Amino acid sequence: MDQVRIGIIGLGNIGSGHAGCIIREEITGCRLAAVCDSNPECLQLAGANFGEAVRIFGDVEALLAAGVVDAVIVATTHYSHPELAIRCLRSGLHLLVEKPAGVFTRQVREMNEVAAGSGKVFGIMYNRRTNPVYQKLRDLIRRGELGQLRRTNWYRP
Ligand SMILES: NC(=O)c1ccc[n+]([C@@H]2O[C@H](COP(=O)([O-])OP(=O)(O)OC[C@H]3O[C@@H](n4cnc5c(N)ncnc54)[C@H](O)[C@@H]3O)[C@@H](O)[C@H]2O)c1
Repeated sequence: MDQVRIGIIGLGNIGSGHAGCIIREEITGCRLAAVCDSNPECLQLAGANFGEAVRIFGDVEALLAAGVVDAVIVATTHYSHPELAIRCLRSGLHLLVEKPAGVFTRQVREMNEVAAGSGKVFGIMYNRRTNPVYQKLRDLIRRGELGQLRRTNWYRP
C-alpha cells in the first residue's frame, strides 16, 4: 500500500485541523480519501475546500459501506467515541480516536476489547500528555506541591 487512505468522521474544530494537515501533505504516507459529518454546513465547507478526490458522507454507515478508506480518525464529540470506534474496527479499519477515549468506563473497556481482537492499528489521541505545560502541572500535583486537589475545571462545559 503506497498511501493509507484516511477517512475523518467529525469535521469540527479538530477534525478539520487533522484534514488540513493531511491535505497540506504535512504527514507522509497517507492521503485524505473521505470525510463524514452529520452537519451539512461542515460538508459544504469540505466540498468547497478539499476537491473531488475527497469523498463526502453525511452518514457514518455510508462511509463504512463505501470501502474507500483504510483508516479512520474519529473526531466527533466525546460521548460518541467508543460507539463509532467499535463500528469502524468491526468494518476492518485502522483507527485513531480523539481523546477522551469515552465518557463511560464500560464503553471504553468494550472499545479496547474490540480493538485488541481486531488486528488493526488502534490509537487514542493523547497528544496533550506530551505538552510540557501539562507535564509540569502533573509533576506539581504528584509531588504534592499544590496540596490536596479538591476540584479540577476544564474550559469546556
Ligand atoms: N487532541 C486534541 O488536542 C484535541 C483538541 C480539540 C478537540 N479534541 C477532541 O476532539 C473531539 C471533537 O472536538 P471539536 O472541538 O472538534 O468538536 P466540534 O463540536 O467542533 O466537532 C465535532 C463534529 O463532529 C460532528 N459529529 C458529531 N457526531 C457525529 C456523528 N455521529 N457522525 C458524524 N459527525 C458527527 C459534529 O457535527 C461536529 O461537526 C472532542 O472529543 C475533543 O475532546 C481533541
